Amino acid sequence: MSTWLQTLISTPVIIAGLVGISAAVYAKRYSSIQPIEQAKEVNAALHSDTGTAKMAQAAASVMSPPSTELAPPKLDPISPSDLAQYDGSENGKPIYVAIKGRVFDVSPRGEMYRKGQGYNVFAGKDGSRGLGMSSLDPKDAVPDISTLDEAQLKTLNQWEAFFEKRYNIVGTVAKE
Ligand code: HEM
Repeated sequence: MSTWLQTLISTPVIIAGLVGISAAVYAKRYSSIQPIEQAKEVNAALHSDTGTAKMAQAAASVMSPPSTELAPPKLDPISPSDLAQYDGSENGKPIYVAIKGRVFDVSPRGEMYRKGQGYNVFAGKDGSRGLGMSSLDPKDAVPDISTLDEAQLKTLNQWEAFFEKRYNIVGTVAKE
């Protein structure tokens, strides 16, 4: 009697103990070590020369498909100060992003470009240098790309191709 009762009482205790230990091992493995490894990988990928180029390719294939209803490109001149009016700070107004002097209407992706959102740094301006550098720093979001090396120019070109597939071209950046 006492033997099986002891077994009955002790088995759940043993099981609970084992479950507890496995849970602790699992938690340690997946909640502390792995995310750090993952973060390192994401960080390394994005800071490598082709990081954002890869992201552009991945985004193009995994995210919403390229629009099949793009309008013919418009090449009307838009001055930098006019362009700045379309910086996503006003609800309901189009949002423009220029790359290498061509202005894309990114309004369909307002959730990424309007004020307060991650990529607002590129809105209302030509921030080609920042795109090439994989930088979200506002000081890098300028049109001058003469500082970019070959790999950065390639990244910029990948972004340009990504935008061409997705967004209408509504003008070209003119001199002020
Ligand atoms: C941890 C850092 C980052 C993560 C996890 C990330 C993630 C993503 C994802 C998932 C998309 C696709 C979004 C969609 O189409 O719905 C995207 C798009 C984009 N990313 Fe990043 N990104 C990061 C950093 C950067 C940096 C540093 C840049 C600077 C150039 C950048 C520029 C862009 C641009 C321009 C788009 C295209 C947005 C569009 O028009 O659809 N990202 N990113």
